[in-house]
Amino acid sequence: MPDSTPTDELYPLAERLPDELPADPMPMAKAWLDRAWAERIQPNANAMYVATVGEGGAPSLRAVLCKELVVDPGYVIFYTNLQSRKAREIEANPRVALLLHWDSWDRQVRIEGVAVQSPAAESDAYFATRSVASRIGAWASEQSRPIGSRAALMARVTRAMLELGVKLDDPEAEVPRPPTWGGFRVWAEHVELWAGQKSRVHDRARWSRTLTREGDGFACGSWSSTRLQP
Ligand SMILES: Cc1cc2nc3c(=O)[nH]c(=O)nc-3n(C[C@H](O)[C@H](O)[C@H](O)COP(=O)(O)O)c2cc1C
Repeated sequence: MPDSTPTDELYPLAERLPDELPADPMPMAKAWLDRAWAERIQPNANAMYVATVGEGGAPSLRAVLCKELVVDPGYVIFYTNLQSRKAREIEANPRVALLLHWDSWDRQVRIEGVAVQSPAAESDAYFATRSVASRIGAWASEQSRPIGSRAALMARVTRAMLELGVKLDDPEAEVPRPPTWGGFRVWAEHVELWAGQKSRVHDRARWSRTLTREGDGFACGSWSSTRLQP
């Protein structure tokens, strides 16, 4: 790691946030994500960090892939094992924080909100788009649980293929979604958009709204916004 402070030249000047902040931050957050994806700004341009709260209030953090940002009513979708550490922590405390960061573009989006399991039909539809190998992997892995060796893990993959009666290289194979795998919708309650600027006088703004539980989701209040000092 260089110990000198990077010069402004190393930080390309990102576009600034508009002087008049938009009423709703989600369209801009989606535009940034879509552009990062379209320009393949980094190998996993939709990588996102998810922080959950564990026992005793201890945070834990891991990368996932942001599969969709739904502007209206304003939630973000990721998929995972529903018995993983993150899912167990969400079950006990659904408050999560998300971070999307595009380093070479000098931008980040922070979202804090409440995670709710996606409807089964939505998880089914997404699972069906995954490669056969990934679908078999979802059956084979008890994510976050200990395993004795790599060989034992591969044996679980082989056993899953036998039980499902499918092969890795069969693109037509029918592999249903395991009940232990699905999506989470993270309903946005606070959103911060950050655009890096020269001399570290960055552009930041934060939007907040209320979420009131309604059916499987939330009734959302209108957004209020403020700029923040960098
Ligand atoms: C770039 C990247 C993307 C990832 N995407 C996912 C994902 O979409 N879903 C997932 O369950 N794990 C994903 N992982 C693995 C997680 O970071 C993590 O190891 C796993 O979900 C177990 O986390 P947990 O034990 O805290 O639940 C990804 C890892 C990386 C580095």
